[in-house]
Amino acid sequence: MPFSPNSTGPTMKPDEKIMARLKPGCICKGVKLIKLIEAIENGATTFEEVAAVTNIGDGSCGGKRCGRKVAELLGEDPIDDYLTT
Ligand code: FES
Repeated sequence: MPFSPNSTGPTMKPDEKIMARLKPGCICKGVKLIKLIEAIENGATTFEEVAAVTNIGDGSCGGKRCGRKVAELLGEDPIDDYLTT
């Protein structure tokens, strides 16, 4: 199930948070999805800001996979970002 900005923060269901602790956020760097969500909950509003606090984005894929996840979490259109990179 994809996460959306509406599923983060106080409205995020407990089972979603548990799953986010298990799901990969950045496969290349071994960072779980919950770390990306926590970065956004703590004020990160761009991929660069999330990357700065989670150490994602400079793995072998160059941030394409985790960039799409962050875009989705931020409510951006990950397809647009993916096609332009
Ligand atoms: S999945 Fe994050 S750098 Fe590749």
